[in-house]
This record gives sequence, C-alpha cells and structure tokens, in this order.
Amino acid sequence: MFQSLSRLSEDAILGVMAKFRADPSPLKVDLGVGVYRDAAGNTPVLDCVRRAERDVLAAQTTKSYVAPAGRAEFNEAVIELVLGAGHPAVADRRVVALQAPGGCGALRVGAELVRTAAASATVHVSDPTWANHVPLIGGSGLRLARYPYYDAVARRLTFDAMLERLECAPEGDVVLIHACCHNPTGADLEPPQWKALTELLLRRRLIPYLDLAYQGFGEDEVTDAAGVRLVAQSVPECLIATSFSKNLGLYRERVGALLVVGESESRAAAIRSHVLQIARSIYSMPPDHGAAIAARIFCDQELRRAWIGELAAMRGRINAMRTLLADTLRGLRGDRTFDFLERQRGMFSLLGASAEAVGRLQAEHHVYMTGDGRMNLAGVMPGNVEYLAGAICRVMS
Ligand SMILES: Cc1ncc(COP(=O)(O)O)c(C=O)c1O
Repeated sequence: MFQSLSRLSEDAILGVMAKFRADPSPLKVDLGVGVYRDAAGNTPVLDCVRRAERDVLAAQTTKSYVAPAGRAEFNEAVIELVLGAGHPAVADRRVVALQAPGGCGALRVGAELVRTAAASATVHVSDPTWANHVPLIGGSGLRLARYPYYDAVARRLTFDAMLERLECAPEGDVVLIHACCHNPTGADLEPPQWKALTELLLRRRLIPYLDLAYQGFGEDEVTDAAGVRLVAQSVPECLIATSFSKNLGLYRERVGALLVVGESESRAAAIRSHVLQIARSIYSMPPDHGAAIAARIFCDQELRRAWIGELAAMRGRINAMRTLLADTLRGLRGDRTFDFLERQRGMFSLLGASAEAVGRLQAEHHVYMTGDGRMNLAGVMPGNVEYLAGAICRVMS
C-alpha cells in the first residue's frame, strides 16, 4: 500500500531549525523557530506555571477522562479572557467554548465546523499568512483564497486593497483574521481599521474567523483582544481560535480553545453539539495537564497577577529588541529603512529581503530565518545585535 507514497519535501520552518542545529559556527543567530526566547536564549517555564503545576499535581486524584469539551472552568475563564466580563454575546448565552489541543487544534475544529455547516464556503486568508493556516484549514476540505494584507517591499498594510477584495467575497464566506501580532508581518490593524472591517463583514454577511495566538504579546492582554471583542459584539456569528502556547509558554502541553458565537442561544446549543462531535471524531478529548495549569492561573488572583507580570516582561523584551535592532540598523545605515521594526508588534516581522539575500544571510553569515524573510525578534539579544545588523547591511542595499 505505502509504495504509492513519495517522500514529501521538508516543512520550511523545521528545515531551517535543522540547518541551524547543524551549523557549528559560534556566530550563528536563530531567528527562525516561532518560540519566545529570554535574554539567555532560553524558552523558559514561567514561574506562575511552575507554581500552578505544583498545585495541580497536589490536588490531582485521578487521570480519568475529563470530557470532549475539556475543563469547564478553563472554558469559562477563556471566554472571560478573550471577550471580557459582561460581553453581550456572553450575556445572551450565545458563546460556545471548546478546550482544544493548542491553537492548531482549535483552528482545525473550527474549519471542520464551517465545512459541516457550509461545505461550499471559501475561507479568505491574509496574504501573507502563517504557513500552517493553509494545511490546517485547507486540510478540512474547504477552499482557500487570499486577500491582500501587507506589502513587504513598502513595509506597510494594504488595507484599502484588503477591503476592496473582501467587498467582492460572496455572502457566507469566511474571513480569517489575525487578532493581533500578525504572523509573519507584525503589522496589525489600527482601531479605525477594525471598525471599518467589522462594518464590511456585517454588511457583506461574511463570517469572521479570528486567530488569537498572541494575546498579551502586542500591547497588553486587554488591548490585544479589542478587535476580537468588537467583531464578536457586532456580527451575529463568528469563530475565535485562541492559543496559550506563547502567552503562557505552554507550547508542548497543547493548550488552546475554540470559541464560536452563534446567532441565538438555541443556535449556540446546536453549534455546541457539532463541535463536540467533531472533537470526538478527531482526538476524542483534549489533553488536560496544560489546561489544568492554565485554569489554575486564570482563576487564582495571585497567580493571575504573577502571569500578567511575566507576560509583560516577555512583551517588554521583544519590544526592547525591536528598538535595539532598529536603532543599530539606523546607526549603521544612516537611514530609517528599518524603523518599521519598532512600530510592529509580536514576535515576527518580515525583513523585506529578497530570497537571495535571505540565502546569503544563512550561507555567509549564519543568520537563520524562514525563506520569506520572517524574523523572530525574540532571537535578537544584546550580544548578537551588532553582528546581526552588520550582516543585514551586507546583504541588503
Ligand atoms: C498565527 C498562529 N495561529 C495559531 C498558532 C497555534 O499555535 P499552537 O497550536 O502551538 O497553540 C500559531 C503558532 O505558532 C500561530 O502563529
């Protein structure tokens, strides 16, 4: 049977990681893999996570199954964290929450739900978008299309072109929107743009699908959810996939959630029955350990305060590195070409370099990023910034 399978080419991000590991140079810089790094280059276990994990283990009396929807207290806390206390959709009991195996698991369950409800719907994703959106959503069998989002050469949003394209999308199509810290561009919508987009989605009867994978990595955990909250209170139906891989550093524990807002309480009940069946048919139950830790942190005042502090420290370091790299490049080049790094948010920005320049950074300077020139700013350290900026100057005019 398996003779029919030919070997697939390597995943682009995993390929960069493998090349970085194999490079013996002491100068090498890893801007490829999408995880947070501290100033020592480590991806730490947060202190609040260690404390919550001790509590969880001490209180645990069984490893028996929880439920296809996961932990109720986790789901309740996620609704509050994402939509805020007193959100009208919550008050109207129109929100369904499903704990999922990471943001990826949530994105896939949401895509399966869309396919179940409307198999002919197209999902419009930003150009560019996170590479994994394509297999995660397209793998459910839904058709994908792209809307213009960012001009990597001019280094700015193409918001008017985005609206123009979405204006032509057929009613009932789905629009995938990065809620904050757009991956890979770092360029987010401003509040008036959120307003204009929401108005279009409502008027054209498009279904928003919000991907919130970096809540708290942009401005703070409330501001980063403002776009999601606005959309969810303005349109009758939407989907939200959230992840706690980055903001709680729980990557390998696979903690995320899918929220679906229905038109009415009874629609929400029908949606709930379908998402539960989809979860049952793919993985049955989500992993519990990470969600138990997350729920403990969200529900305990003191742990939650500690988490908000640690989240602010991660965000602060990324933003400090954005400023440091932009400053260093300004000093070396005597121009403001890279000032955009300082304005953008989250872990990623596109360098705006050609594929050839990205190849030279790797081959000649041991600087690793994905082929599209996506840099993880958390890989920048005070100790490597001069070297990195020098390498960038050498390959880019
Ligand atoms: C835009 C975006 N969405 C979703 C995810 C999902 O992450 P995870 O499945 O690790 O929670 C990521 C992770 O890199 C991401 O960048």
